[in-house]
Amino acid sequence: HNSEIGLIGLGVMGKSLALNFASKGVAISVFNRQVEGVEVDIARNFALEHKEIYDFPWFDDLEAFVRSLHRPRNLFLMVNAGKAVDMVIDSLLPFLEEGDLIIDGGNSHYKDTELREKYLAEKGLHFMGAGISGGEEGALKGPSIMPGGPAEAYERVGELLEKIAAKDKQGKACCTYIGPGGAGHFVKMLHNGIEYGEMQLIAETYHFLKFSKNLQPNEIASLFEEWNKEMQSFLLEISVDILRKKEDDEFLIDKVLDAAKQKGTGGWSTNAALELGVAFDTITAAVMARNISGKKEERVEASVLYGKFEKKGASEKLDQDGLFKAYQAASIINHAIGFELLSEASKTYDWQLNLSEIARIWTNGCIIRSAFMERLAGIFKEHSENLLMNEEISRELKENRKHLVNVVSSALQSNCSMPVMSAAANYFLSFVSAQSSANMIQAQRDSFGAHTYERTDKPRGEYFHSHWSSEDETI
Ligand code: 6PG
Repeated sequence: HNSEIGLIGLGVMGKSLALNFASKGVAISVFNRQVEGVEVDIARNFALEHKEIYDFPWFDDLEAFVRSLHRPRNLFLMVNAGKAVDMVIDSLLPFLEEGDLIIDGGNSHYKDTELREKYLAEKGLHFMGAGISGGEEGALKGPSIMPGGPAEAYERVGELLEKIAAKDKQGKACCTYIGPGGAGHFVKMLHNGIEYGEMQLIAETYHFLKFSKNLQPNEIASLFEEWNKEMQSFLLEISVDILRKKEDDEFLIDKVLDAAKQKGTGGWSTNAALELGVAFDTITAAVMARNISGKKEERVEASVLYGKFEKKGASEKLDQDGLFKAYQAASIINHAIGFELLSEASKTYDWQLNLSEIARIWTNGCIIRSAFMERLAGIFKEHSENLLMNEEISRELKENRKHLVNVVSSALQSNCSMPVMSAAANYFLSFVSAQSSANMIQAQRDSFGAHTYERTDKPRGEYFHSHWSSEDETI
């Protein structure tokens, strides 16, 4: 054999990617370790099952697998993020030679990716962290791929990755070299942050309509379907199907437990925002909404303690158009916040991220694809400023801001929590206010800790300290 790619890890995503490579004519070997106590040979079974499509060279012996690859070798890891990645890397080392490349296609933390890149570079090996989005179907038919690491490594495998990636409207691959080090995995992490925000936005809009406006899931589905003619959002599209799904003549959504799980990427992006000093309201609110949802038992108890609230909003007529505009505004703000983090990370880490290209490769294949993402690719081509400073966007937000505020207040009035939409409204109001409340914060800091403050009537950079307490004066 002389395979161009060797794929390790035949889980759901690994299998789909292997089939995708094979269907694009890329010679590929597959490996899965023998799982202890399990009789079946995963790699062999996979190869047998798909014999008609491609004669996969399959292996459960790592050395033979590595030997089946064209040199310098390109190895593609599709194993669970975390320790497994390091274990596989270490088990490969004895069989690798200078110039070989390992690509990690999992949702690894970008800092781990940077450490691994350094570790392997010392051994003369290349390492790339490639974010892959699109779930099982995306992996099979064309995902969005966000590869980061050494540019020379991308030069070698870029073409192969572009072959299996989704295509944008112009037919270009939804895969582009993101930047050095952990840039690829950082961008994937942020993709997931935006994903968390968009998911929660849909969830709380649904929740408001159901519990405050007494709409049935299929009625909400029809509304979302209408909105999606304009939004063309993948997440909204699957939400329509979800809301319509029936089991034994009842809506299945009503039987799904309201406690969300998460694997980390959303929270990691909040951590990154904290490190970089970026206001990250909507995405953080979405992560926190998942956290509190997980406390099901406590919430049930508290709902007994505090009793049922009157649903005041329920009697008011629903302003459907206003709700749509509020949803659109919040979604714009969520994207603005996400891209702001990318822009800050790019500056701090000197990654030279191309925001327009990142938006472009998110127009297809990935979970957050939408008509708005198409627009973003265009907007970021011309302007690199904060999205909310963009003329076209600001015109829309000026028009929609009152709806955003109205919907949030109506939801809170009707005792319906709306974490992401309120975070969007608050972020927006803070962003567009020349006067913030932080004069008080600075005065408090100076008062109790002599931390000093700057003055509006003196140049920036001059620091003052005052005695704030009336007692100070009488002493
Ligand atoms: C994607 C998804 C994918 C996965 C997330 C879900 O882009 O294809 O983001 O990577 O579904 O890991 O994350 P949670 O389990 O944290 O919701």
